Amino acid sequence: MTDKAKKWILILIGGSIIMITVLTAFLLNGGRVFHYNSDSGSGNVSSVKNEENKEETLGGNEEENQDVEKKDLADEPIEPSIEEDIPSLAEVYKDYFPIGAAIEPKYTTGLIAELYKKHVNMLVAENCMKPEAIQPTEGNFNWEAGDKLVEFAKENGMELRFHTLVWHNQTPDWFFLDKEGKPMVEETDPKKREENKQLLLKRLEDHITAVVSRYKDDIKSWDVVNEVIEPGDGNPDGMRNSPWYQITGTEFIERAFRVAREVGGEDLKLYINDYGTDNPVKRDHLYNLVKDMLDKGVPIDGVGHQTHIDVYSPSVDRIIESMKKFAELGLDNIVTELDMSIYSWNNRSDYGDNIPEDILQLQAKRYKELFDAFKENKDILSAVVFWGISDKYSWLDGFPVRRTNAPLLFDRNFHAKPAFWAVIDSSN
Ligand code: GLA
Repeated sequence: MTDKAKKWILILIGGSIIMITVLTAFLLNGGRVFHYNSDSGSGNVSSVKNEENKEETLGGNEEENQDVEKKDLADEPIEPSIEEDIPSLAEVYKDYFPIGAAIEPKYTTGLIAELYKKHVNMLVAENCMKPEAIQPTEGNFNWEAGDKLVEFAKENGMELRFHTLVWHNQTPDWFFLDKEGKPMVEETDPKKREENKQLLLKRLEDHITAVVSRYKDDIKSWDVVNEVIEPGDGNPDGMRNSPWYQITGTEFIERAFRVAREVGGEDLKLYINDYGTDNPVKRDHLYNLVKDMLDKGVPIDGVGHQTHIDVYSPSVDRIIESMKKFAELGLDNIVTELDMSIYSWNNRSDYGDNIPEDILQLQAKRYKELFDAFKENKDILSAVVFWGISDKYSWLDGFPVRRTNAPLLFDRNFHAKPAFWAVIDSSN
């Protein structure tokens, strides 16, 4: 055999061995070709694509297997449920202050009711005790919804707060129309303006008398006036330019507190409630107003700080500083409407179903910082009330634009969020 022929035979044998090896590997692998997982960035061969081009994971390491399990779990729909085995917020905070939440009458039954029962020992009506809900037309009072909350609170040993006797929003127009049905704010004749003022103050008095008489035995903590300060409206005293203010000056505030006290007695705790009370400009206007009223003997017991904040601002120090300032006047403080938007106040974007985990962690961190400070200042803070309980039902899904927000401690399935654990952690 020539050398050339020998060389060809060797090439053929070598080639056959390589082909047989490749073919065997292919068949053993179920007819699949290897796929480089670029996601890992490490160059590991961690997954394969089969003929249908579906991704599967090979044996791999433990971490990779866990990822698969997580993925499988995430794909399963999560059902709303009450986590019975977690601590109760109210229980954990019992040596500090009551923990409250805003509620609608329709949430006094069903699963969501169980969430309230487990975690809070104070309630406030989210809407059903506002003027438009209680007295939609003059002299016609609706008590049904409010009574339902009174009953639910009693049955479950919870305190109930009243929100709100006087406000510029959710107040029916009839309050501000004169006897002829004309808007009082348009009146220019001084005599008629004075008559209108007396008529409006009388309506205010009648409303407060009816409401306080009905609930004074069941409700001790009352938001008497809501959001009367608005420096942006340009009044030198920082007062909101509401119809109440345009028609009566600050007399509506004075009258509201005095009537509530006369009808309700010394037992009631009467609050002036507002948002943005940490803002030094707004805070100082509120301070001056309250001080002025106290000097005149107007019975104000405390300031309600709504505390609608976000994950970025304001600083916890500013929130506490404001409480300290009002405490110096001998006043109590309540956090009345706490929630923490996951967007900064001027942001209009929407995370949709993909809220980044780091935002939820940031929220948790801030909730902890906040509750650490609340506990430290429990002597000047008598209750902390959330504006809702589960992210499923929050006004912030519709304000300032319709989107997914997640401002509370429980998610849309009523399950504890990182923020819940942070608030619990703060109690240790
Ligand atoms: C204000 C009011 C509340 C409620 C919230 C938003 O804070 O005081 O009653 O309406 O706005 O829902």
